[in-house]
Amino acid sequence: MTARDFPMRDGCGSIEKPDSAEVEDLEIRLLLEGVFQRYGYDFRDYALSSLKRRTRNFSAQEGVSTISALQEKILRDPELMERYLHALSVNVTSMFRDPGFYRAFREKVAPFLRTYPSTRIWHAGCSSGEEVYSMAILLMEEGLHEKTRIYATDFDEKTLQQAKTGVYPLQAMADHEKNYIESGGKRSLPDYYVARYDHVMFAERLRENIVWAQHNLVTDGSFNEFHAIVCRNVMIYFNSALQARVHKLFHESLARFGILALGEKETIHGSPVAACYGTVDEYEKIYKRKQ
Ligand SMILES: C[S@@+](CC[C@H](N)C(=O)[O-])C[C@H]1O[C@@H](n2cnc3c(N)ncnc32)[C@H](O)[C@@H]1O
Repeated sequence: MTARDFPMRDGCGSIEKPDSAEVEDLEIRLLLEGVFQRYGYDFRDYALSSLKRRTRNFSAQEGVSTISALQEKILRDPELMERYLHALSVNVTSMFRDPGFYRAFREKVAPFLRTYPSTRIWHAGCSSGEEVYSMAILLMEEGLHEKTRIYATDFDEKTLQQAKTGVYPLQAMADHEKNYIESGGKRSLPDYYVARYDHVMFAERLRENIVWAQHNLVTDGSFNEFHAIVCRNVMIYFNSALQARVHKLFHESLARFGILALGEKETIHGSPVAACYGTVDEYEKIYKRKQ
């Protein structure tokens, strides 16, 4: 928090009246500071516009008229905090999202992973798990599943619980199947799940090598050394200082020649560790650690 965040005295010593947008910015910064100090969740370096929109919607949903009033309630009510956390995490995802990425991973990364006796892949910010099951299917079709352990993490426990079940709505499967085919899938998506009524459950064999864990990219450190890190559509919600910190975390967590896969609108360029990476596929945002 800096002095700039507070109303200033003008040359005559009277206090300038801030406009309501300034007050709202101040309220949100105080809320995020309070959330950090009370619960340890650190949103202070998230991109502000998305945070503001989500906080406004959440306040309306909870019947609270100002962000200051929301702050008072959140600080006293851990369950409300859990709901706020869930409201702040954008969980949009799908299977084989951006099929070109999975095609590139299959063609350019799988042959490299085959050179190792065993491999570890970290899916950071995995949301409800669709991208993790997509990767498990890809690895199975490329003969890599047996020797790979996938670590799937997110900071949102509620979403992670859903991911662990491997249960998804049947109606979403048509779109997932379309992506799967476009991504170069070698079989048929229903080969990997059992449909019951309006839901499907992914096969136990896909889930065997997946370790699910809560991990916060902002406040938690490195926990293993990986041959590939997939972190797609997560850093887009961070400001550039936080992106730089997370890039350092990934660099520390990658084995030499390890792969870093980012989302469509994300890049390694401009990060403090950019020079440590070469490019595998610039369009699909796949990079390889050099040093
Ligand atoms: C838009 S989803 C992306 C899901 C998936 N990676 C994909 O590309 O489809 C963003 C995910 O990042 C998670 N996330 C946001 N901030 C995080 C943090 N600090 N640490 C870990 N996960 C975070 C959210 O909970 C959410 O599940």
